Amino acid sequence: MDAHEKGFFTEENSVEVVTGRNKNAKDERLKQIMEVVTRKLHEAVKEIEPTQEEWFQAVMFLTRTGQMCNEWRQEFILLSDTLGVSMLVDAINNRKPSGASESTVLGPFHVKGAPELPMGANICLDQKGEDMVIGGRILDTTGQPIKDAVLDVWQANDEGFYDVQQQGIQPDFNLRGVFRTGADGRYWFRAVKPKYYPIPNDGPVGQMLDHLGRHPNRPAHLHYIIKADGFETLITHIFDPDDPYINSDAVFGVKESLLAKFRHTRDPDRARTYEFDGDFWEVEHDFVLARVGEKRG
Ligand SMILES: [Fe+2]
Repeated sequence: MDAHEKGFFTEENSVEVVTGRNKNAKDERLKQIMEVVTRKLHEAVKEIEPTQEEWFQAVMFLTRTGQMCNEWRQEFILLSDTLGVSMLVDAINNRKPSGASESTVLGPFHVKGAPELPMGANICLDQKGEDMVIGGRILDTTGQPIKDAVLDVWQANDEGFYDVQQQGIQPDFNLRGVFRTGADGRYWFRAVKPKYYPIPNDGPVGQMLDHLGRHPNRPAHLHYIIKADGFETLITHIFDPDDPYINSDAVFGVKESLLAKFRHTRDPDRARTYEFDGDFWEVEHDFVLARVGEKRG
């Protein structure tokens, strides 16, 4: 049936008339996607019944979101993150076998080419913040250690900024490092306790959060990408469960299984072996990787 056979556009048949025009689409997947998007969008408009003014406000919001984007700033990703869409796409694409560590968002601050460091290295290059030692094992789902797993770690400093946000203030590659496990699957390194930080909130997404009565903060976390031959790459974080924003991450990245214990430790002898000045924080967290093709639970 041709589109005109469905009749002229009316409020009642709007979806059929619009999607009917796509019957010669060159890409079946695109046709399917646009059918769903059109249906849901029309549904929203019919439920909301926006005034012309409100509709124009929406158009201008998206316009400003696009205008905010450049080589360093991706406002649409922030929009996707703050609406929970990024986490939903991550969840759909990372259904893991039971026992495997869960993933979360990559975030915008990963930098390729961080230096590979010996186990135990201190990734804090500017001596600021509260000392922290962090370690654990990289395991398969049967509990066996994984040799030659490569961990790429990065975190914000104790003021809540990544090195790339403070070029010229923080040393390059501050609080970043790449580590490779030995036969025992163990990793450990020294760092500083991370702090919560706001996502960039000086653009339209920040305004949206403000109007919705939402804060822009992400609870303190460390980022990990963990790769090993024969295993699925894990992109994840661990979080500080005592962070004030742990239950209200602006981008919905927190999962129960990603809460690590940050233990405050007073032990002068151990502090000395780590070259720490006094009390320090201690974190122990294992990661479990799924084999490529391992059945999802
Ligand atoms: Fe982050």
